[in-house]
Amino acid sequence: MTIQPVKGTRDFYPREMAVHNWIVDGWKKISLRNGFEEYDGPIFEYLKMYQVKSGDEIVEQLFSLTDRGGRDLALRPEMTPTLARMVNQQINSLPKPIKWFSVPRLFRAERPQKGRLREFFQWNIDIIGVDDVLADAEVIFTTIDYLRQVGLTSTDIKVKISSREFLAGFLKSIGIPEEKLGDIYVLLDKSAKLPPGVFEELLREQVPDKTISGKILDFMVEQSIEQVRDLTAPNESTESALENLGNVFNYLESMGVGDFCIFNPGIVRGLAYYTGIVFEVHDAVGELRAICGGGRYDNLLKDFGGPSIPATGMGMGDCVLEILLREKGLLEKQLPAGSIDYFVAYVDESYKNQAIRITMELRSKGCSANFSYKAAKLNKQLKQASDQNARKCIIIGQEIESNQLAVKDMTSGEQKLVNLDEFNA
Ligand code: HAM
Repeated sequence: MTIQPVKGTRDFYPREMAVHNWIVDGWKKISLRNGFEEYDGPIFEYLKMYQVKSGDEIVEQLFSLTDRGGRDLALRPEMTPTLARMVNQQINSLPKPIKWFSVPRLFRAERPQKGRLREFFQWNIDIIGVDDVLADAEVIFTTIDYLRQVGLTSTDIKVKISSREFLAGFLKSIGIPEEKLGDIYVLLDKSAKLPPGVFEELLREQVPDKTISGKILDFMVEQSIEQVRDLTAPNESTESALENLGNVFNYLESMGVGDFCIFNPGIVRGLAYYTGIVFEVHDAVGELRAICGGGRYDNLLKDFGGPSIPATGMGMGDCVLEILLREKGLLEKQLPAGSIDYFVAYVDESYKNQAIRITMELRSKGCSANFSYKAAKLNKQLKQASDQNARKCIIIGQEIESNQLAVKDMTSGEQKLVNLDEFNA
């Protein structure tokens, strides 16, 4: 019987692990240089935590379990509820603003497809305690800072920005009742992923009045903030939403990343808790699913029993990112070669212990080193050294009797005799 890996999961062989580590190291480096501190939480939480505010889609995709004490638990499908719970728990002692990042392993029982798996990693950055959309701009900047660092340009990717606050104001102004907003958001979020015609049909099911559904369709395709402003009768909430949107774009311009950012009213986000600026990063061709997404969620901490405190953040999965980097040829180019400093070979069994001793000495000096387990033919050992990408190979033979080592440079092929006491690893 052969056992297959579970659908939607990945095995990380060393090659894949090297890619994974390179992506995660980049996320961490960029988070730190933008002033975020790392945190983590448990991989499973109480099931009810995700039923409070994440929305039906996430709830339907939960991997849930009952523990031996009869408690209903779920593997985490996202990090934001854990973050809200953790911050609430220590709200009085934590210095504000809170700028935290994390790289959790997440689980969603989605239908596996290109860029979407059932187990994945997601970079999270969040800023808690700042009302000003400057925090939203900093989250977006940090996201771009990473994508730029790995070589993606403003012609490869676009940050599409909109406002849930404005959308809510617009929908209410055309007669959509408050309690229907959640369902409409979920549907609008799917619009770009649905085949042409299907979205319109689903929208008409939700909003049978043709004039109203027509206004929604018009709204989704507008190109500029001015155009969406013209679609709605101005009121206090839509005006403040538009001011916030304008400010975000101004801040992003000042941060030097304006060329990556565009307004797109079609960005709604599927999760229920967003309240203000929302954004997603997409490949410019529009072939792939979103690279990442995020936004402002000013009510989540309160909904979790904490104080009313504003928050904004984003999550970027590793799957679409990796596909895009491969497609652009940016991955292979930047991946550090998995190499060791030394491989220690020996000509016959009588030198084995010397080889072991020298390997251990190299390791104690901080060099990475391997030795041959067998006194195989020298050619075989050299092949092993090159399979392991060793930079140098030390060959131990009779020269060791006169305190000398043969050191072969594996790139140039050059071989020298070096005195043992002069050998500097
Ligand atoms: P989300 O839109 O559900 O947001 O996910 C954000 C990103 O995670 C997606 O754009 C994608 O890169 C990745 N992702 C989601 N599901 C999968 C999957 N099944 N397989 C691979 N990658 C996936 C959130 O999760 C929010 N909690 C983000 C956030 C943080 N908002 C504020 N702070």
